[in-house]
Amino acid sequence: MTTFSNRITKLFGTDYPIIQAGMIWASGWKLASAVSNAGGLGIIGSGSMYPDVLQEHIRKCKAATSRSFAVNVPLLYPDIDKHIQIIIEEGVEIVFTSAGNPKTWTGVLKERGIIVVHVVSSSKFARKAEEAGCDAVVAEGFEAGGHNGREETTTMVLIPAVVDAVKIPVIAAGGIATGRQMLAAMVMGAEAVQMGSRFVASEEASSHIAFKNAVIGSQEGNTILTMKQLTPVRLIRNKFYQQLAQAEEKGATVDELKELLGRGRAKKGMFEGNLDEGELEIGQVSSLLDRILPAGDIVKKVWQEFREGLQNPILIL
Ligand SMILES: Cc1cc2nc3c(=O)[nH]c(=O)nc-3n(C[C@H](O)[C@H](O)[C@H](O)COP(=O)(O)O)c2cc1C
Repeated sequence: MTTFSNRITKLFGTDYPIIQAGMIWASGWKLASAVSNAGGLGIIGSGSMYPDVLQEHIRKCKAATSRSFAVNVPLLYPDIDKHIQIIIEEGVEIVFTSAGNPKTWTGVLKERGIIVVHVVSSSKFARKAEEAGCDAVVAEGFEAGGHNGREETTTMVLIPAVVDAVKIPVIAAGGIATGRQMLAAMVMGAEAVQMGSRFVASEEASSHIAFKNAVIGSQEGNTILTMKQLTPVRLIRNKFYQQLAQAEEKGATVDELKELLGRGRAKKGMFEGNLDEGELEIGQVSSLLDRILPAGDIVKKVWQEFREGLQNPILIL
């Protein structure tokens, strides 16, 4: 299949401008290496890993692919110094940072020749990432699964705004799972797409099969952006969400919400498959998904749909 060249494929050395998002409890070395081997960029999600687990995943990923891959580092992670140290020691070449200030670590990573990309939810944060020296930004809209911006800006509005705001390349994320959606994002000026939910429904994702099945069974309106008082997150409206919503309705304080959230809710839901009591992070686009596929097939399918869409972009009836 024909490859493609733009600033993002050149930056990462990939065949296609398709990126598999770093995701807690979903994207370990198996998923990341499968995507990289298929010509996209695979990302290990370090946010749910202890430092020694991250090291093991990086080593296994290096053994499983000769192509480039990245590590996602949520900047609010408590053991972040150890994660950064391991990333440097293991010679990881690309880091996607998120959920925090890009000023703190970008310089440290860039001094060692590491490519740094930061995830943003507004043009203001995109400019800050550019000023901090990032090589590219991921602009992630309101539709996206997982943690999200408070301003609720949709991908359709965010992408053109961020493309205008910065000179560095923009990667679109949030609500993208098909080649035609990818084409739409690139028509708006994005130079690549990052897909999360699409890759949760893959054979190689480390998420529990019950969660994957809930994802492909999800209908329009089944997800919601909640917990805006703590850190906004898009998840499935399950029993756990109903408990949260009731507590918020009764005017629960931040501390009370933290207690209800407790520890390990995300692990319980997405990794252990407890669909009632766990937190099930996923994007709106889950309503378009109906099959669990090998990750490499997802990359090929999306790319083929993109190519077909490019030749015949609009439907004329
Ligand atoms: C299960 C799940 C876990 C996620 N975990 C993280 C994470 O650890 N770090 C991060 O930066 N983004 C995380 N995200 C957001 C993704 O990286 C990505 O930007 C988002 O899924 C894109 O939107 P989409 O789900 O509509 O494709 C997560 C998303 C999902 C669905």
